[in-house]
Amino acid sequence: MTVEIDKIQKKTKKICNSEILKHFTGSLSDVIVYTCTDSTNTRAKDFLNEGKQPPFLLVAEQQTAGRGRHGHTFFSPDSGLYYSLVLKPADMQTAIQKTTIAAAAALQEAIRITAGISCQIKWVNDLYYNQRKIAGILCEAPRTPSNEVSGIIIGIGVNIAQSEFPEEIRDTAGSLNCPELDRNELAGVLTDRILYWMDHLNDPSLIQAYKEHSLLLGKQVRFRWNDAVISGIAVDINEEGNLIVEADRQYILNSGEVSLLSW
Ligand code: BTN
Repeated sequence: MTVEIDKIQKKTKKICNSEILKHFTGSLSDVIVYTCTDSTNTRAKDFLNEGKQPPFLLVAEQQTAGRGRHGHTFFSPDSGLYYSLVLKPADMQTAIQKTTIAAAAALQEAIRITAGISCQIKWVNDLYYNQRKIAGILCEAPRTPSNEVSGIIIGIGVNIAQSEFPEEIRDTAGSLNCPELDRNELAGVLTDRILYWMDHLNDPSLIQAYKEHSLLLGKQVRFRWNDAVISGIAVDINEEGNLIVEADRQYILNSGEVSLLSW
């Protein structure tokens, strides 16, 4: 009996379209909620291919084929938030360069506002709490057959109350450990904050907000450069969102995996 009560108390609140909208002041053409889907980013791509017009939002309680960067899977049980916001910014070039930065700054703020937890951003697209990855961001820009970008998909997965993880990520993954966090509120506030930063992509305050919560700045990091493995100190993030690392010379990284060598 104790176990059952415990299970009930630990269950995160259901996601509901009208509840998300209560926490969001802008306007979207649609908000679609899934109890379970394969991947909200894949669904978003399908909608764009069918001609659905952004801005729209897809949110799921669970995914069976969640996707991460570099072809990784994203573990997506029903105790997280799986979110894809689809936009069509006027300045697509800037958006392609800076959307991940904007989404990370927005997510850091939304978690602070709704859960009272201050996470750190690991360049470029991961959020960490208590030295564990608790959220990831996958931004995609699918193209039409005539090679035009049809929209920007901002895919975000947040581990809210997961306590068990698959073997491959057990040493690095964690959660906010916050089953009482209302996923509707998080999704609504997150949408507000993303739309704010997407309107301020060229404002220096975006990089400032991102840098303030950086996990890597001032730390020793390691990364691949062509065929070599380089170690150095992460010293800055420039206006374009590139990570600057001082090693045998200065390196300016615009994508790729960077590992942290010591906390
Ligand atoms: C990463 O950690 O590399 C990025 C993970 C992004 C996961 C989110 S969950 C919602 C959306 N749908 C997906 O399939 N992926 C993104």
